[in-house]
Amino acid sequence: MNNQVIEKAKQHFATIVSEQLERIEKMKTAKEWIDYSKIKPLIIGFCWGDGIGPIISQETQRLLEELLSEELREGKLKFKPIDGLTIENRVKHMKAIPDDVLEELKTCHVILKAPTTTPEKGGPYPNIESANVAMRRELDLFANVRPVKVPKQGINWIFFRENTEGAYILGSKGIQVTDDLAVDFKVITKQGAERIIRMAFDYAQKSGLNDVTVVTKANVVKTTDGLFLETAERVSRDYPGVKWEGWYIDIMTAKLVDPKRRTQFKVMVLPNLYGDILTDEAAEFQGGVGTAGSANIGKQYAMFEAIHGSAPRMIKEGRGQYADPSSLIRAAAMMLDHIGMKEKAAKLEKSLEICQQFERKLTITGRDNGATGREFCDYILETLKSHNLEQKYKKFTS
Ligand code: IPM
Ligand code: MG
Repeated sequence: MNNQVIEKAKQHFATIVSEQLERIEKMKTAKEWIDYSKIKPLIIGFCWGDGIGPIISQETQRLLEELLSEELREGKLKFKPIDGLTIENRVKHMKAIPDDVLEELKTCHVILKAPTTTPEKGGPYPNIESANVAMRRELDLFANVRPVKVPKQGINWIFFRENTEGAYILGSKGIQVTDDLAVDFKVITKQGAERIIRMAFDYAQKSGLNDVTVVTKANVVKTTDGLFLETAERVSRDYPGVKWEGWYIDIMTAKLVDPKRRTQFKVMVLPNLYGDILTDEAAEFQGGVGTAGSANIGKQYAMFEAIHGSAPRMIKEGRGQYADPSSLIRAAAMMLDHIGMKEKAAKLEKSLEICQQFERKLTITGRDNGATGREFCDYILETLKSHNLEQKYKKFTS
């Protein structure tokens, strides 16, 4: 009996290793970065998602239609709605992303994605893989870039979360060896670690921040995190002007709540799961996960999303209209920045910050004692269109 079980596990492991070796070869020969300035029309895919997803994406689309009216009219940009990324359709096909939806996604240059339901063991839906995780893998969106800013507290962080490996890549491919024994796998590759670490160091250099914190648990998770840290050490030699330090995830999590120490962190780079956890904590300082956007960047595609889930509880309790669209709006601003529309991106971001952090004529609480997403979006829209936006922003930030 044991022999049979071990043989089966060995087979499983062999398949995993061979798939990963193949993926490494693909990374080695990956195409060059796409040049958005040469593309017309540039297609922006909209995935509406589940739960609060359709509500917050409708509001975000409204803002983008206003901001990009000229480009849309002139045919420089095109919005493409992608309807099939709902939990119902995914369950119908028993796939994280049904094949035809994936094909449609691949016809877009960038994607704005609302939260989608991530099934879990024992939950109401079959336990299919997360659509986020699948999309990040299928489109090779290796960098998950998550900024968190609280100007009043001197917080200006940017996280570079590795997005296609770590504990996530085989998160749906663990083995239940026997009833008693469950094994999951964590993967770090030299190529995968290098591309995200290089991106973080590049950013630190170009932005003039010149400071990188590499977060691992390499003292315990010696092989994979060890490789991540070793790669950072090697990459850092190409950036002599950038100061860097390795930190362990446990003490890092603690120091993020230390008001004296936390403002000294600038650019952080970390494996997938640590990045997932630490960025939720970080977003809390800014007003919660509902305020944080995230860029999933690859060489050929990029996807922008909120850092939170679809909030089924809000829908169940009839509070959907009070959901905060700020996260997706921030993601939209990151998208504009990524495709080279820097000025419009800054305008959208400044309007959002004025409404959310400074002027605060309306606040969102997620409940009926606060504004609805629609009202809040009207407020942003009005701020965006006001002739003295720049002066207003300067007044608040100087
Ligand atoms: C995130 C989310 C996702 C993740 C979930 C929804 C699968 O928490 O983008 O951080 O774990 O990556
Ligand atoms: Mg998360």
